[in-house]
Amino acid sequence: MSTTQSNPTNQPLDHLHDWEEFVEGQLYPEPNKKQKKDYRNYDNPARDTVREFYRLNHINQTYDFVRQKEAEFLPLRKREMTIYEAVEFLNTLVDDSDPDTDLDQLQHLLQTSEAIRRDGHEDWFVLTGFLHDLGKVLCLFGEPQWAVVGDTFPVGCRHSDKVVYPEFFSDNADSKDARYNTRLGVYEEGCGLKNIHMSWGHDEYLYFVTKDYLPEPAQYMVRYHSFYAWHRENEYDHLCDQRDREMLYWVRKFNPYDLYSKVPVKPNWNDLKPYYDKLFAKYLPAKIAF
Ligand SMILES: [Fe+2]
Ligand SMILES: [Fe+2]
Repeated sequence: MSTTQSNPTNQPLDHLHDWEEFVEGQLYPEPNKKQKKDYRNYDNPARDTVREFYRLNHINQTYDFVRQKEAEFLPLRKREMTIYEAVEFLNTLVDDSDPDTDLDQLQHLLQTSEAIRRDGHEDWFVLTGFLHDLGKVLCLFGEPQWAVVGDTFPVGCRHSDKVVYPEFFSDNADSKDARYNTRLGVYEEGCGLKNIHMSWGHDEYLYFVTKDYLPEPAQYMVRYHSFYAWHRENEYDHLCDQRDREMLYWVRKFNPYDLYSKVPVKPNWNDLKPYYDKLFAKYLPAKIAF
């Protein structure tokens, strides 16, 4: 089912699924658990990969770049897919030379949603767990990794130094542009995150793909789940409105399920499919525009 899609264009990560490992194991390790790899070990090649990834991300995610990607993708004219087609499409990201990672993207979605279900949350929350990373299909539309995954941040105003690897912003053209390098930049105080252009990636994209079908807390979870500077570091409050501050509760509620839901025994998709079939039918149309 999967086709090899490993590193076609000299990108920092060998495979996109490495990203989950980096985020959980290195960037945001589970409290009270030993880090899988020492983030500060200069001999650790994985660390250099993350650095290189963020170097490219922070240099290239400019206000103009984001506006261009919004214009390109947000009309949602790429293709219409059922959820199953989207998941299958996403799974072509898996390199079939490695048997352990087959269906890895589906497993991340399923382990996230099943952890939410185990905790007894409402069905829309479970659905959100399942959907939250489907925006990574951007990779299959030819987008570079640094424009698909990674922590997100507002563009068009000064970068917070609480964004991971802030030193790389010095090479972002916006840092030297007087329109974009002030505290508010092109925005107004308290204008609300809905008026803020976020660095381009799977979060913002999937928000537009799914927003008409999900309740508001779910929309926030999808749209801001990689906005760590906000939901973990409390930065950018001056751009938020009251609604954002209320919805932050839900974004934070979602985050541990995204990061720490891996289980030793993989959920069996065939057993779970009837439940998810019903769930998709309740909230989603048969085909969704991507
Ligand atoms: Fe994500
Ligand atoms: Fe995720």
